[in-house]
Amino acid sequence: MSNKAARNLFIYGSIFFFVIFLALTYDTMSQLDQRAPEITEEVNAGKMAWHKYDCIGCHTIFGNGSYFAPDMTKIAEKKPKGYLKQFLLDPKAVNPNASMPKLGLNATEADNMIVFLDWISKVDTNGWPPKPILAAATGAGGQELTPGQKVYRAQNCAACHTLNGIGGTTGPALDKVGSRRDRAWILGHFKDPKAFVPNSAMPPYGHLSEKDLNDLTDYMVSLK
Ligand code: HEC
Ligand code: HEC
Repeated sequence: MSNKAARNLFIYGSIFFFVIFLALTYDTMSQLDQRAPEITEEVNAGKMAWHKYDCIGCHTIFGNGSYFAPDMTKIAEKKPKGYLKQFLLDPKAVNPNASMPKLGLNATEADNMIVFLDWISKVDTNGWPPKPILAAATGAGGQELTPGQKVYRAQNCAACHTLNGIGGTTGPALDKVGSRRDRAWILGHFKDPKAFVPNSAMPPYGHLSEKDLNDLTDYMVSLK
């Protein structure tokens, strides 16, 4: 390539991609306003309260935050406003087993928080979060769950174990547990982990019904 050709390639190439860059920037900017409703005073005040009470220390929004407590992105779509308000003011008054502390929001802060959460829930997130976020963990994305898979989900075993790559790592991955352990071992271990693994950090599940324990054991045995 001659020097002249190289220079032309550089100049016209740069212009070409700069024009594409401008067009895409324009396209994005013109869509942004449609993807989220208007930000009002209340939305702002709610966001300030979200920081003041460090909600993000336990919850996520758009996946940002801590994974201790449920994601809040779509909560305002799922739960009625009156319920949310009561819960924010005093979680235990709504659900005696709630582990969320009473944070001391006043009524105005709770109202603003709900406006904020409502605003968040209307942001177009392109379908995020995927609907049953743990479905893949139990190997049943969208299909009917087996009784054992239901117990696995209800008990949130995925908090400590991975299956198909999804879940926590406190305990071992369970993908092949059926080839490592037999039925009697697994069932006994559920009732009293320490009797089988002396320093086990797994909580005992003897309080579950015999049926749930059997279903869960069948499920584990089937993982080979
Ligand atoms: C110390 C951790 C913690 C903090 C801080 C916290 N939460 Fe929670 N929150 C939880 C937990 C855990 C749950 C799940 C239900 C339960 O066990 O209480 C929850 C549940 C919720 C729910 C859903 C209730 C339901 O029934 O679905 C809402 C709404 C909520 N929190 C909002 C907030 C807001 C807003 C803040 C900040 C003002 C906040 N949380 C701060 C731990 C926390
Ligand atoms: C708090 C974390 C925690 C929770 C929750 C938990 N486990 Fe475990 N689990 C462990 C740990 C740690 C081990 C390894 C020590 C042991 O075998 O007891 C383990 C071991 C196991 C084993 C034996 C695996 C092997 O290869 O030996 C099975 C099966 C099992 N867990 C199933 C479950 C199921 C099903 C649930 C839900 C009902 C569950 N666990 C809940 C932490 C947990």
